[in-house]
Amino acid sequence: MSNEPESPFLTLHEFVKEAKSRLSPGNWDYLVGATETETTMLRNRASIDAWAFRPRVLRDVSSIDVSGRFLGRSITLPVMLAPVGGLENFDPEGGAPAGRATTAYGVPIMVSSVSMPGLQPMAEATKGGIKVFQLYVRGDFDWICDITQQAIDAGYDAFCMTVDTAIYSRRERDIAKRFVKPWRTRATGQHFQAALNWDDVKRWKARFPNTPLALKGIATAEDAAIACEHGVEVVYVSNHGGRQLDHGRGALAVLPEVVKAVDGRAKVWIDGGFSRGTDIVKAIALGAELVGIGRLYCYAPGRGRGGRCRADAAAAGDRGARGARPARRHRLRPARRQLPAPGRAGGATACAQRLPADQSGGPRLPLARLRHRRRLSTLTG
Ligand SMILES: Cc1cc2nc3c(=O)[nH]c(=O)nc-3n(C[C@H](O)[C@H](O)[C@H](O)COP(=O)(O)O)c2cc1C
Repeated sequence: MSNEPESPFLTLHEFVKEAKSRLSPGNWDYLVGATETETTMLRNRASIDAWAFRPRVLRDVSSIDVSGRFLGRSITLPVMLAPVGGLENFDPEGGAPAGRATTAYGVPIMVSSVSMPGLQPMAEATKGGIKVFQLYVRGDFDWICDITQQAIDAGYDAFCMTVDTAIYSRRERDIAKRFVKPWRTRATGQHFQAALNWDDVKRWKARFPNTPLALKGIATAEDAAIACEHGVEVVYVSNHGGRQLDHGRGALAVLPEVVKAVDGRAKVWIDGGFSRGTDIVKAIALGAELVGIGRLYCYAPGRGRGGRCRADAAAAGDRGARGARPARRHRLRPARRQLPAPGRAGGATACAQRLPADQSGGPRLPLARLRHRRRLSTLTG
């Protein structure tokens, strides 16, 4: 989305609405849906809303820096496109336009192993850009090592194992519609993912000592600490956008305990419900290095469907990137101008404070929330 005069999209809601009108009902529900009652997804948003800023004034903020870091490297914003499987359902080129956009813009993309056009073409689409390859395990340890080596040879900067997907969850929107995703009927080897364990992580680290490893789907301090003991470079706090375990905690509610448990031994990344600059500032203030964006960038309809949308988060489509460049920086700037720099002593509490549940509009009944379309923080159309 851009606030340039010629852009037809001036708010996030406008391009979400456009996306809904362009996607088939099955693909729309696949994109916006979550597991069972969708409570975890709703809590993602509620956990962000639960933090309020403590703005400070009269400090010279005429020049501010909204850049971020990726494993020590400088990037345009502390934002990454999270891995999304089945991107070909939203754009005929799959993830390639998003890859070109992130490369042009200077933020990382995490490429899903179950999205088209695949590992090698995505490496080409992101040539010169920062990229991480995310794996769903569909084979034995040799199979994992083979894919890892392909990713290293193709120039990926890091590798990620998603660890919150031992089984595919119950997506009730699809079930209610009797919608069977064609690619799921072709899926094989899921039992290898279910069998994944810490010993595999240990063996992987021994085999690939020079490749940074992220574990995506960490949701407790305990597992964050174990990940650090295994030498993992990135603890990625995520509940899969609420698409796996229902009745989990909101991602941002988990972040403080994970940051404490990690205690500087690894970088902490997070995703789940982030859609605005203020959301991202909260996560950075609470100790995250990088914030992943999932559904948001999929709302830019594919060019093959005549899409005109400019996505907000350095998003799908080359045109999306052009519109996104100034837009996302503008969204971060107002918050950064009024807040103490995250990372300074006491940065998180100096910057924001957690509100009592009754003031933060904590989780409500899902259906009531889903019908509440005018709530500006919720972007499910
Ligand atoms: C349509 C869709 C497909 C996804 N596919 C994957 C995937 O292939 N691998 C993975 O690790 N996470 C996957 N995720 C989870 C995202 O990486 C991310 O954790 C989540 O979308 C973040 O929440 P948000 O959508 O509220 O930003 C998927 C999410 C969506 C919405």
